[in-house]
Amino acid sequence: MSTVVLVGAQWGDEGKGKVTDYLAEKADLVIRYQGGNNAGHTVVVGDEEFKLHLIPSGILYENKLCLIGNGVVIDPAVLLEELRGLESRGINTDNLRISNRAHVILPYHRALDQAEEESKGSKKIGTTNRGIGPAYMDKSARVGIRIIDLIEENQLADMLKTNVTNKNNLLSKIYNSSGFDYDKILEEFKEYAKALKKYVADTSALVNDVLEEGKNILFEGAQGTLLDLDHGTYPYVTSSNPTAAGACLGAGIGPTKIDKVLGVVKAYTTRVGEGPFPTELIDELGESIRKNGHEYGTTTGRPRRCGWFDGVIARYAVRTNGLTYLAVTKLDVLTGLDKLKICTGYQYNGEIIRDFPASLQVLSKCEPVYEEMPGWQEDISQAQSYDELPATAKAYLERISELAGAPIAIIGVGVKRTQTIVVHELF
Ligand code: IMP
Repeated sequence: MSTVVLVGAQWGDEGKGKVTDYLAEKADLVIRYQGGNNAGHTVVVGDEEFKLHLIPSGILYENKLCLIGNGVVIDPAVLLEELRGLESRGINTDNLRISNRAHVILPYHRALDQAEEESKGSKKIGTTNRGIGPAYMDKSARVGIRIIDLIEENQLADMLKTNVTNKNNLLSKIYNSSGFDYDKILEEFKEYAKALKKYVADTSALVNDVLEEGKNILFEGAQGTLLDLDHGTYPYVTSSNPTAAGACLGAGIGPTKIDKVLGVVKAYTTRVGEGPFPTELIDELGESIRKNGHEYGTTTGRPRRCGWFDGVIARYAVRTNGLTYLAVTKLDVLTGLDKLKICTGYQYNGEIIRDFPASLQVLSKCEPVYEEMPGWQEDISQAQSYDELPATAKAYLERISELAGAPIAIIGVGVKRTQTIVVHELF
């Protein structure tokens, strides 16, 4: 048996969906542990494309227990739509369970997300506007509504009354925008409760049962290390902990239960939303990587900012997650470039920095120090083993691994399940 935590090692969108999908095949249980429908995974099975926001992609296999853990914030309308979408395509969703302790996203969370962003003007975070931050704020403020409260009708009515009153005050008095009708939300959410009730469980107990049976478990992180509330480029972060430690809190297991941590990096770097990005390419090359890599958000459709691979970030991700392995995705997107650049450190105030800085003022003034490496022209999209890759591609991967300080286990050379090279099996 083995337990693997899968995390994004950059700013999210590292292609975790495909790696999760690959690992899910051998897992008995897959659990999402943080975030919400700000995330989006695209999984290509044969000729079919699935876009998942909340449900672990293990659902695409028969007989995998798929859990949404207590650390996730759930928008019930989105979850139900995703369930219906899967069912209409013949995917059985009976194996889904959602944590009774997960928090619920309500319409006022989305309204507050938007109002807060607008009020920030040029200092906006560039959130996905899904209400994620305000839902986690309520959780921390101890006024959030959990799934268990949603399905206990009296509790829902009572908590909602206080919340709607307070949020309406906030929306009208601080943000000068309109509020919500209590009765309407109550009726709407009572319907969601009815539809979701059969999926609700104590997911921490389920994970621990499966652990005791000695089976394989995959903890599926959303977003990425630099979007982590504690370790990311604060305040340009999300409101949860995508880093590996978040798996313990968000799934309800102890740290002693984790065997391996796999960090997913793209062969280059991307970021959506605002905030400094040292290796960003604001030129034709950045544009061509965006086009070749289809770098547009799964959730929002926003174009992603693109840049060279950043070894400082990779090393930081290894440190803050305790990564035991890396998965390098989208290597094929770099095919055809004469020269590749890898950032090995930052130049700041005449000094070389190798540790990712906490100060955004420092980070925004950091100049990347680049090493140039030759590219490859050969089509690598059909390569099935490491040995089949051109020598220059291997050298590029080896340098990534060396700079990060972790071995590479998986390499992605295309969007399909079959376009995956496995160097180390994790399960
Ligand atoms: P929020 O999570 O919607 O509050 O957004 C906060 C920041 O995280 C913004 O910069 C978003 O663009 C970013 N973000 C949230 N989810 C994802 C994701 O799944 N991939 C990439 N960026 C994300």
